[in-house]
Amino acid sequence: MIRGGIPLCGTLTAAGSKNAALPILAATLLTDAACQLHRVPSLRDVSTMLMLLSSLGARIQRGEQGPVTVVSESVTQHRAPYDLVKTMRASVLVLGPLLARYGQAEVSFPGGCAIGSRPVDLHIRALEAMGAHIEIQGGYLVAAAPNGLHGTEFEFDTVTVGGTENALMAASLAQGSTVLKNVAREPEVTDLVCFLMTMGAEIEGVGSDTLTIHGKSSLRGGTYAIMPDRIEVGTYLVAAAATRGSVRIEGVSSSVLGVIIDKLREAGADIREGDDWIELDMKGGRPRAVDIVTAPYPGFPTDMQAQFTAMNAVAEGTATVRETIFENRLMQAHEMKRMGADIVIEGDTAQTTGLLALQGAPVMASDLRASASLVIAGLVAAGESRIDRIYHIDRGYEDIEGKLQSLGADIRRENRSSMVQ
Ligand code: UD1
Repeated sequence: MIRGGIPLCGTLTAAGSKNAALPILAATLLTDAACQLHRVPSLRDVSTMLMLLSSLGARIQRGEQGPVTVVSESVTQHRAPYDLVKTMRASVLVLGPLLARYGQAEVSFPGGCAIGSRPVDLHIRALEAMGAHIEIQGGYLVAAAPNGLHGTEFEFDTVTVGGTENALMAASLAQGSTVLKNVAREPEVTDLVCFLMTMGAEIEGVGSDTLTIHGKSSLRGGTYAIMPDRIEVGTYLVAAAATRGSVRIEGVSSSVLGVIIDKLREAGADIREGDDWIELDMKGGRPRAVDIVTAPYPGFPTDMQAQFTAMNAVAEGTATVRETIFENRLMQAHEMKRMGADIVIEGDTAQTTGLLALQGAPVMASDLRASASLVIAGLVAAGESRIDRIYHIDRGYEDIEGKLQSLGADIRRENRSSMVQ
């Protein structure tokens, strides 16, 4: 429940990145040795991945706020069951590591956000190029590589973050060298590469669109700190800009935010940055609407477009947001229209003409980033908004209401909503 109209002001600390933590947790399957991970965010998706690892036989220790330690020495199961995978698509990231280390894996076809068909054909093709046999049986991907995986050259015909990560992890334990072309260059992929190198993997081309992995017969454990969550940080910056507020976020450098910062500046935000902090100040002014076209990194991230649509709904002028990565990812715009937003949706594009304020209304979250954008819409709406199905938001935002309350927002969680699972 949100009562909007209050400019957000204050200081927050960035959480660790969900999209880096998930593949890095999956990568702990590549070694017998202990992996100690710092800055693992407390999120539903992370708990799901930890449950998955533990169902495979890994031993996991997690202190209250401290690091997560995973030891995969005792892994005996190689099956990622439907019940876990259906709640989180990223469960498919155990496919590459299980196959590379044990020569077999069974992973239920992934579910996750309702944002389009999201196939895994490229994960499969990359692993097949390394010598895996993969069949679909009873809703499961059943994969085997009895003689181990071997090096190969593989070009992705679409840039895929998860596909790149699965192939990278598998290639790290394959025999010989693998060249992966047209890989995703998202900072979270680079964070996985850095973790794999901590484990002893040999990888060239870091940050470029071609990665060469010289496979090792075994990898070691290690200690690693997950990168800050650029999407979480971006979400709070946009929330502050939309409410004409001023925030400082610590524990993150603006270099990982890239084009998100450029777009906020274009919207009129005064942004100052240091090595591990970012400040945004609207100086009480109304943001200007900004055009956005989503694209793979270093383009504008699809995970931030919904939040900018919410800002555009109360900004000065008209702008379009075009989604090129996923189908069905403009669903939040329909809900925002229920709050009075002036949005015209045509195909993959939402054209928004900003109003001075939205009107509070009951709305329903449809996926993770859509829920974040509806929270922002609630923060700029007059009166009370009720956002239902907020379990989506707990998948990717740590204590969102606590963080927004600390910035002065009037937001509270109703037990009834949080019980809807
Ligand atoms: C990851 C992120 C997600 C983000 C997305 C794009 C995680 C856990 N999730 O999702 O938050 O929105 O990247 O930045 O990191 N595709 C295929 N075949 C495949 C795989 C993908 O056609 O085998 C297509 C998808 O349908 C989509 C595009 O490639 O159109 C990008 O998807 P991908 O990068 O794989 O997204 P995810 O890894 O699922």
